[in-house]
Amino acid sequence: MKKSNLYIILFLMFTSFLVAKENISVSTLTAVKFNTVCAKCHEGQCSGRLSFDSGAKAAYSHINRYTKTSSDDEVNEFFTILKYMKKECKIFLPNLKYKENYSKKDILPYEIPSKKAYFIPLGILKIGIYTLKINIEKFRQYKVEVISEHFDMLLDKCVISCSQKNDLSYLVKEKANYYLRIQSKDKLIINNIKNF
Ligand code: HEC
Repeated sequence: MKKSNLYIILFLMFTSFLVAKENISVSTLTAVKFNTVCAKCHEGQCSGRLSFDSGAKAAYSHINRYTKTSSDDEVNEFFTILKYMKKECKIFLPNLKYKENYSKKDILPYEIPSKKAYFIPLGILKIGIYTLKINIEKFRQYKVEVISEHFDMLLDKCVISCSQKNDLSYLVKEKANYYLRIQSKDKLIINNIKNF
C-alpha cells in the first residue's frame, strides 16, 4: 500500500472515531436528572458491563419511580448515559459552556423542573483553592457537592442559609473537569453562583 493511502485510512479511522464520540445525543435536562436524581445509586458504576436482561420495559418502571416525566426518548437517553458512564467511567453532561459567574438565566439549563436539584459545570479547574458563592432567594437547607468528572468528591456540605451569600472553599489537587451538584428537599431558587 502507498504511504499516502495509509495516511488517508488512518485519518478516516480517526475522524469516524471522533464522530462516534460526538454522536451521543442526550438532552442537557436528561443528563442533569441523571446526575442528580439517579446519581446516588448509579454514580461510579464503572464496571463496563451492562445487564439489560430485564429489558427496557422493566427499566421504564424503575426509572419512573425516581422521575415522573419519562418518555420513551428520555428512557433511551438514560440508557445512553448509563452506558457512557459505565464504559468511560466519567460523568456525562452535554453542552459544556461553563462560567465563573452564573446568573439566574445561565443556571436554567442545569436545573430539574422542580428546582430541587442542579448540576452545573464548573469547567476545567487547575490546582488551587477555590471559593464558591451561592446566592439563594429564600431560607433553605441544601446540599452542595463539587465533584470531578471521575467522581472525586472535593466538597460535600450541608448548607443552611437565608438570602445572604455563602462562601464555601475547596481545594483542587488535580487539574480536571469539575461539576457542582446542589440538592434540596424543597424548591430552591438560586439567584447567582460564583466560583473563583
Ligand atoms: C435507590 C437507588 C437507585 C436509584 C435512585 C436509581 N436506580 Fe437505577 N438501578 C438501581 C439498581 C439497584 C439497579 C439494578 C442493578 C444494576 O443494574 O445496576 C438499577 C438498574 C437500572 C437500570 C438497568 C441497568 C441494567 O444494567 O440492567 C437502568 C437503565 C437504571 N437503573 C436507570 C436509572 C435511572 C435513569 C434513574 C434515575 C431516574 C435510576 N436508575 C435511579 C438503583 C437505583
